[in-house]
Amino acid sequence: MQNNVQMGRALKNRVTRAALGIATVLLTFPLAAGAASSNSGASGDIPRIVQKDGKYALMVDGAPFLVLGGQANNSSNYPAMLPKVWPAIKDMGANTLTMPVSWEQIEPVEGRFDFSFVDALVAQARENNVRLVILWFGTWKNTGPSYVPSWVKTDNKRFPRLTNKDGTTSYALSPLYDTTREADKRAYVELLKHIKAIDGDRHTVIMLQPENEVGVYGAARDYSAKANTLMDKPVPAALLARYKKPSGNWHQVFGKDADEFFHAWSIASYIDDIVAAGEAVYPLPTYVNAALKDPLNPDQAPGSYASGGPTYNVIDIWKVAAPHIEILAPDLYSPASNSYEATLGLYARKDNPLYVAESGNAPIYARYIFSVVGRQGIGFDPFGFDYTGYSNYPLGAKNFGPEGVKPFSTVYKLFGSMNREWAKLSYEGEVWGVSEPDDHAEQSLNLGPQWAAKVTYRQWEFGLPEWDPTKKNGYPEGSDVPRGGIAVARLSDNEFLVTGMNARISFASGVANTDRGFLLDRVEEGHYENGEWVMDRVWNGDQTDYGLNFAGAPVILKVRLATYQK
Ligand code: DGJ
Repeated sequence: MQNNVQMGRALKNRVTRAALGIATVLLTFPLAAGAASSNSGASGDIPRIVQKDGKYALMVDGAPFLVLGGQANNSSNYPAMLPKVWPAIKDMGANTLTMPVSWEQIEPVEGRFDFSFVDALVAQARENNVRLVILWFGTWKNTGPSYVPSWVKTDNKRFPRLTNKDGTTSYALSPLYDTTREADKRAYVELLKHIKAIDGDRHTVIMLQPENEVGVYGAARDYSAKANTLMDKPVPAALLARYKKPSGNWHQVFGKDADEFFHAWSIASYIDDIVAAGEAVYPLPTYVNAALKDPLNPDQAPGSYASGGPTYNVIDIWKVAAPHIEILAPDLYSPASNSYEATLGLYARKDNPLYVAESGNAPIYARYIFSVVGRQGIGFDPFGFDYTGYSNYPLGAKNFGPEGVKPFSTVYKLFGSMNREWAKLSYEGEVWGVSEPDDHAEQSLNLGPQWAAKVTYRQWEFGLPEWDPTKKNGYPEGSDVPRGGIAVARLSDNEFLVTGMNARISFASGVANTDRGFLLDRVEEGHYENGEWVMDRVWNGDQTDYGLNFAGAPVILKVRLATYQK
């Protein structure tokens, strides 16, 4: 089944390469310096995901690109709303807007397509110099069929809903019917044809999310007679190989997990078929987002979460069933740091690039970008970024406006100013990143045998905490709420690129250097210009004596470490 996954990727690469007429997948590439979000003219390769030694990059115009996204609210997908979307994306400093395009919107009458919104969206994205991720709201949107056209919604004979365990009819459509899949596929393929026609030479659209938060609540699977018959059939060989199980039907092979695994297989196969057809037209990278299963409660029952969606426990099923889908991406709305970090860890896998498809827009979520990039993430796309006046509290911020954007714009400024450089270092080298845990506890970074680092929070920039054990000087304003983070990338054996927010990093010798004295050889503050590091000043004295302190302003440092003979 590993082979199956590789075959899927190979197939996609073949399609991509065939479309481009190039012979091999590029594993090295020139740095498209200074082109972080530039979207101004004809560009190179079609966007794609590349993989090397279990590390990933999203290639945009032939070079790695870090998605600093902002997702609009669900009903902002009409031209009249766009003037309220762009200012939020601009204030945020996002390089990518994520926007739904729904089936009901493009095919209100069967067989008649209307792409006027897509045309307006793509044209305005170019004017605003941002890329686009398009969300296909089709058979599933938060598991339900609310975005399918009326002619689908109201015809359950042709497009059946699934059957609950007690025999009642579920709200959700069943993934077991060719009629539904073919109809969804046709609309998706028409959308892809249109995107290719208007954007195939520009690549304003860089990724697609087929469907949205798939699965079903209230049932583990479809319990119809049709589904029951299929569950009595042999489990596909590729799945048996992945799970190292002897053959049998779904109940025999997967026991208590059979219902959920069967439903995951059915949905993943359904979407994979749609994506494969879309790719044959225009092979943009795709991801499916997950409404999460609680990472800290393995006993949670399927159906109390979205059963059949790409929850962490069925990622292997999805990887086998859906080789054309490159990314399974979490939607993160649990602000607790132990839960958030656990989910990131479950989705950052050798066979799955980490991409945060959604996250809350409350300030407390902004710091998590440091954990995402530290896990070699290719993008972060928090939800609810427009000024249409809607708030999805308690998932996101209570009031959302320009003030709410600020915590995000601070971190986006950091990574935006070195987008291509960071994405290349992440893909080709080594990166680390942590965000402040809820208890503000110190964190350690293992930077290899020679160097180590400690990250601490709630510190004044001057002095050491042991000087004030009773905290009579208090803490920096606003630091009671976790808001810090640090990211580090290796530039060479002894040199690191370091950035952060509301945090202190203190470097030290690693295990290979313990008999020698540690020193900060040189600390430069600077920025990138056309791919080249430009030094603005050297930090020394108070600025380095107590660790390297990042306050609220975006600062990037280049740090050279050394030792001396004691
Ligand atoms: C997750 C969904 O994927 C989004 O479209 C949206 O409904 C949020 N939940 C809640 O605002």
